[in-house]
Amino acid sequence: MTGDIQHELAGKAESLWIATTHDTGFPSLQENISVDVAVLGGGIAGITSAVFLKEAGLTVAVVEAKRIVKGVTGHTTAHISSAHNLIYRHLIDHFGRDDAKLYADANQEAIERIARLVDKNNIDCDFRRTSEYIYAESREELDKLKSEYEAAKSLGLPVSSADAAPVPFKTYGAIHYQNQAQFHPRKYLLALSQLIPGKGSYIFENTRALDVEGGKPRRIKTDKGYLTAKNIIIATHYPILNQGLLFMRMEPYRSYVLGLRVADEIQEEMFDSSEEPSHYIRTHSTPAGPLVIVGGEDHPTGHEANTIGRYKRLEQYARARFRVESIDYRWSTQDNYSFDKVPFIGRLSGSKHLYVATAFKGWGMTHGTIAGMILSDMILGISNPYQELYDPGRFKPMTTAKKLVTQNVHIAETLIKGRLSKPERLTRLGAGEARVAEIDDKEAGVYKDEKGNIHAVSPVCTHMGCIVSWNNAERSWDCPCHGSRFGFDGEVIHSPTVKNLEKEEFKTRKI
Ligand code: FES
Repeated sequence: MTGDIQHELAGKAESLWIATTHDTGFPSLQENISVDVAVLGGGIAGITSAVFLKEAGLTVAVVEAKRIVKGVTGHTTAHISSAHNLIYRHLIDHFGRDDAKLYADANQEAIERIARLVDKNNIDCDFRRTSEYIYAESREELDKLKSEYEAAKSLGLPVSSADAAPVPFKTYGAIHYQNQAQFHPRKYLLALSQLIPGKGSYIFENTRALDVEGGKPRRIKTDKGYLTAKNIIIATHYPILNQGLLFMRMEPYRSYVLGLRVADEIQEEMFDSSEEPSHYIRTHSTPAGPLVIVGGEDHPTGHEANTIGRYKRLEQYARARFRVESIDYRWSTQDNYSFDKVPFIGRLSGSKHLYVATAFKGWGMTHGTIAGMILSDMILGISNPYQELYDPGRFKPMTTAKKLVTQNVHIAETLIKGRLSKPERLTRLGAGEARVAEIDDKEAGVYKDEKGNIHAVSPVCTHMGCIVSWNNAERSWDCPCHGSRFGFDGEVIHSPTVKNLEKEEFKTRKI
């Protein structure tokens, strides 16, 4: 962060989970190797899948572009929960009661699988059973809440209805989900990752998967060499391959989080507001006392010029509900939403050996674990009860068709507008500011850092060519089409792209 930005927003710009755990030091890929299963992406979906497959006797290689559990999983709020806002009424209405029940069962089973892994491997990760409350902050929300409660109860979920949530601010009603859980996600996954290397299995860090080539076994091209594998799991959050056209059926969102110390008593439970987009709250015990984690203010990636404003609005939300003593941490994350609200987990259309796990819509702890359950079973040839529900090849016209058209027309318009419109000439830029503009007759994304240094990159996204936009809180270039993100220097932060933005050089010295 620049000095200016650091002063403008309170709190250390780092996730609590990353700030309180050690760094990993797995090697990069150094020679061409061959395994049964290559897992691209070292978050919860990739690591859980790899652990289950290795336990079953296969050899695996987890390939992570940077360091494991530092991407989206390192920036979660780690609710281990089947209380996914108001999902069950939607599922009953659009998928039918049987599929809605499978979704509920899958998520409850995932909670138990995590608990068993913690227990079996004696993992010290602050795992604890808690409740989750979906709360209404206005009377207008109550009908929706009641309908959701009845839907969840009819599916056998452990719910009860409450007049209010146990929080220090006014609520008008709540659904109380018992038998949910929370933990420190990096402590959990760093412990699990220790189970992977050895006996022909590996974790490779700082190794970016670039492409998957056909043939038997399939070859994965990385920036450090090749890897061959009979099966490949793409668990890179947003898939790095366009195969299966999932990018046409999902949408990435940014979400913001603050870690607070408050003067109020708050129960160590988890809370989500019923409005959309929702706010979410949980506590986490730290040596300095409980930290209250508040998240929300979501928006589609690349569609918000003033992301600093999102943090400020979140702070206002928190201050209106808690007596905030300090803001210790702030971080942001990215969530993918499928148009029908069910993740894509399974075999990619048109392939026998390529698997994918994505679009967890912010519920990555259970869905990352469900990905491990489904994908390991599929690769091992074991029938899995949830496979069909999460099949990436499904198409639910009622929930998908309209959104499919509007979203992709919007992307096409963004692409065309970016190609046709001529940006303004860049004359002046303040320290800490950035803009897509014309400079030396060229279009560029230009950022001036707090020391006055200019960093210029091509603003053309290396995924499919949309024009990126500036994210002032994270100092990144974010693509409004499918959510690729790049640092101010053009380096890839977030898939689907795997290629950096090109750097630009200019004669103009004074901006
Ligand atoms: Fe697809 Fe940028 S992420 S065009």
